[in-house]
Amino acid sequence: MTASSLPGSLVLAGAGKMGSAMLRGWLALGIEGEAITAIDPFMSDEMKQLGQIQGVRLAETARGVAAPDVLILAIKPQMLETAAADYAALIGPGTLVVSIMAGKTIADIAARLPAQAIVRCMPNTPAAVGRGITGAAANAGVTAAQKQTATALLTAIGQVAWLENEALIDAVTAVSGSGPAYVFYLVEAMAKAGEAIGLPPALAMQLARSTVEGSGELMSQEPRTSASQLRINVTSPGGTTAAALDVLMAADGLEPLMKKAIGAAKRRAGELSG
Ligand SMILES: NC(=O)c1ccc[n+]([C@@H]2O[C@H](COP(=O)([O-])OP(=O)(O)OC[C@H]3O[C@@H](n4cnc5c(N)ncnc54)[C@H](OP(=O)(O)O)[C@@H]3O)[C@@H](O)[C@H]2O)c1
Repeated sequence: MTASSLPGSLVLAGAGKMGSAMLRGWLALGIEGEAITAIDPFMSDEMKQLGQIQGVRLAETARGVAAPDVLILAIKPQMLETAAADYAALIGPGTLVVSIMAGKTIADIAARLPAQAIVRCMPNTPAAVGRGITGAAANAGVTAAQKQTATALLTAIGQVAWLENEALIDAVTAVSGSGPAYVFYLVEAMAKAGEAIGLPPALAMQLARSTVEGSGELMSQEPRTSASQLRINVTSPGGTTAAALDVLMAADGLEPLMKKAIGAAKRRAGELSG
């Protein structure tokens, strides 16, 4: 990423959990606070501080805000209908719209805002610590330079995976968008299993939680080693890990269950879209 891929002006619509995580990332990337306007009817104290200390401009509504290079839509999807009239005035001829609204398609956005260039994204909650992953799809109006800009902005909250086809967003939602909850549930399930074999509840939770945290960090520090290889590396033939994996990897083990769960999430994403 180069400094030239950063936008000269940026409007963040919706400074909630995801919006403020992005904003913190942009400031860390070196975007000047003065180049950013954040719009939210109820600014958090954190946002007010960022306004005072870093010079981020804060506004309660879009009225009177100039058309930026990039408009990020981080409002709740159900707010789009009412917000669109205000935000339409912020779209200049070169404005790139980047939406993180779940379930709102590029066509939904194009029907409500006069934008040529639209990127639709699905981030996930580890964005709050800069370790998210965002699936992103661009329409035909997005130029190569705008795509670079979108990549730079999204990289501020973690990795970015560009999708050739917007239709893949529902599958991305099912795997990584909803995925953090599956991992948290894995921790709960491991802790309950630990209790069932005699560990005190607090210790069982500490062991499970710390194991998932540490394994995630180990995987992140070994980017060229596949997950399968990492698993094989810690599984001695005939040992304790192998005994557990025999159960998890059985024909009726975790893989078919995960397929069923992720399939249900994808179906639900499709139902909620529009
Ligand atoms: N959190 C996630 O894991 C995640 C993952 C992927 C995608 N997303 C998407 O990210 C978006 C934001 O989610 P979030 O979790 O950050 O929600 P959030 O914390 O509720 O943030 C949305 C913010 O937008 C404000 N808002 C409402 N109407 C507005 C308007 N017209 N102009 C400007 N701001 C307005 C809301 O204010 P009020 O609270 O006063 O209404 C709130 O502060 C959603 O579209 C969601 O689908 C979230």
